Amino acid sequence: MTTAPEAAPTTVAGDIIVAIKDLSLSFGGVRALVDVTLKQARGELLSVIGPNGAGKTCLFNCLTGVYHPQQGSITFYGPHDKATQIVGRKPHLVNRLGIARTFQTSRLFNALTAFENVKIGVESRMHTGPVGAMLRLPRTRREERESDARSDELLEFVGLRARGNELASALPYGDRRRLEIARALGTNPQLLLLDEPAAGTNPAEKSDLGTLIRRVKNELGVTVLLIEHDMGLVMSLAERIIVLNFGRVIAFGTPAEVQHDPAVIEAYLGAPTDDDTYVPVEPDANGDD
Ligand SMILES: Nc1ncnc2c1ncn2[C@@H]1O[C@H](COP(=O)(O)OP(=O)(O)OP(=O)(O)O)[C@@H](O)[C@H]1O
Ligand SMILES: [Mg+2]
Repeated sequence: MTTAPEAAPTTVAGDIIVAIKDLSLSFGGVRALVDVTLKQARGELLSVIGPNGAGKTCLFNCLTGVYHPQQGSITFYGPHDKATQIVGRKPHLVNRLGIARTFQTSRLFNALTAFENVKIGVESRMHTGPVGAMLRLPRTRREERESDARSDELLEFVGLRARGNELASALPYGDRRRLEIARALGTNPQLLLLDEPAAGTNPAEKSDLGTLIRRVKNELGVTVLLIEHDMGLVMSLAERIIVLNFGRVIAFGTPAEVQHDPAVIEAYLGAPTDDDTYVPVEPDANGDD
């Protein structure tokens, strides 16, 4: 059963990468998150779904230090299982710990090339300061070569190596969404938060993004937390799903459990009547490849 939010989200097998406990966030009278508790296992592809305004992006903003919740804790287990509290930390420090994100609406540097956009992500993890850069110290030159190579590698990974010299603004929409993922990966995260990566893409671009997200998990070993409205994509990618509605966790479980959950059906489709027939989305038969 999936509709026991107090108990279900805390029971996760294996190594935990992030544990959120009793998280609440309000803006004046708007309760964006209410007592949200969940744990994500390392290596797990977990999806956050819910209707518009449910609190999904607010959850990401709390996880990345952009919003400071009034109540609750977010514990991130970084390298060597070192536990760190995220609440109260600034976004660039959270990123340094190993949490990266993409945004619901594109935040690429449009006047820079695809390569330069990725390199900004990569260089945020380098050690050279402005003095080292001016003096062209040996370490600076070595880091420059390493960041160029890493940026090329990431462009290759997302299928954009051939477009590295094109301005971000000139890329087709699906390529821009993949470029955002490459830039986030450049910061070398352990946990990657994707906020509606497939929003606005056409079916071919959506399918490519699904394949890319699966490869991020399987080939790079990065844990992915995915907000997505496209149920076909969510059902084919996610190992578990958490459902938010009006800031609260209303269901949590496997895709099969969640899509048959009456509370989820009601949140998405409105209260059922005797005449309603709900046709659930079936998981992608090729979902595990
Ligand atoms: N900075 C803010 N100031 C005031 N209210 C906010 C702010 N950010 C979010 N909210 C409110 O918090 C609630 C949750 O918003 P959030 O953006 O998390 O929704 P969402 O689930 O991501 O929705 P969508 O699917 O439309 O992106 C909404 O009512 C929203 O208006
Ligand atoms: Mg949102």
